[in-house]
Amino acid sequence: MPPLPTSRKILVTGATGKQGGAVIEALIASKAPFQILALTRNASKAQSLASKPNVTVVEGDILNPTAIFEANKPIYGVLSVTVPGKEGAEEAQAKPLIDESIKNGVEHFVFTSVERGGNENSEKNPTNVAHFASKHRIEEYLKENSGNGSKMSYTILRPVAFMDNLSPGFYGKAFASMWGGLGDTPLQLISVHDIGLFGARAFTDPSFKNREIGLAGDELTLSQAQKVFKDTLGQDLPETYGFVGSGIKYMVSEVGTMFKWFKDVGYGVDIQALRKEEPRLQNLSTWLKESSKFPKE
Ligand SMILES: NC(=O)c1ccc[n+]([C@@H]2O[C@H](COP(=O)([O-])OP(=O)(O)OC[C@H]3O[C@@H](n4cnc5c(N)ncnc54)[C@H](OP(=O)(O)O)[C@@H]3O)[C@@H](O)[C@H]2O)c1
Repeated sequence: MPPLPTSRKILVTGATGKQGGAVIEALIASKAPFQILALTRNASKAQSLASKPNVTVVEGDILNPTAIFEANKPIYGVLSVTVPGKEGAEEAQAKPLIDESIKNGVEHFVFTSVERGGNENSEKNPTNVAHFASKHRIEEYLKENSGNGSKMSYTILRPVAFMDNLSPGFYGKAFASMWGGLGDTPLQLISVHDIGLFGARAFTDPSFKNREIGLAGDELTLSQAQKVFKDTLGQDLPETYGFVGSGIKYMVSEVGTMFKWFKDVGYGVDIQALRKEEPRLQNLSTWLKESSKFPKE
């Protein structure tokens, strides 16, 4: 591929969060000559991003993309990360950004969605999990509008559950407890680090244009994960009582619906094919060693 001009700007939403942060790290590591615009609602919280090479912290609210484009155009590429909230929240974060991107001549738009049971199912099936369905509606909107006479191409990344949910501390233990409720049904997992790799490739590799791609690097039951954890780090996976997981699923009904979907349908990424395409793809063991926050001796 010929070298890209350094002036190309990529707007990264969710820059202070997990996926946006990982895409920024991977873009920097790729040495692709982009200027990265790291969006946050509060620049004073993003000091560590400001010191990274090729990163400019941009203060703004994704709910008002017009102001972001006015202050920073021309923008070559956009990474869109949405955060679930009350009904319509994710669409409000993504659809005006898609419209504004097309209006302002953005060339490539990357949306981080969620996997919904294999490529074909993911395309057709919103599922009964509300934040999966809102992402499906955004995907449809992106495909419809980018193909509609605009020059904007897209990549839809569809990650499965994050390995990083297994963080040290209460949240990680609660996730393990909910996972345990799946019994013998395995769960597919992806590291946030690898979402970053694919996010960066979406902007640098032309074969990612107009592509929808499920992302998973491992598939395990909780008892298999416990063994991997022990074998890799020489300690037990931190856990809490099973009733904590069932209590959360009961109290937060959407979480309950999602775990029921994991049991009844489940993610459907072809991990072997993805690893052929990206040999750096982490499994749980390599993530624990290379990227997790668990102490390594
Ligand atoms: N956890 C999983 O296993 C999993 C699996 C698949 C998909 N997902 C999806 O991943 C998404 C969350 O991604 P994440 O974990 O990377 O997010 P995260 O770490 O929670 O970070 C959220 C980011 O969104 C930004 N943000 C929120 N509202 C904003 C606004 N109005 N304007 C500008 N920025 C705003 C925040 O930035 P500031 O506060 O700095 O403004 C923050 O950087 C969810 O949609 C979830 O469904 C999660």
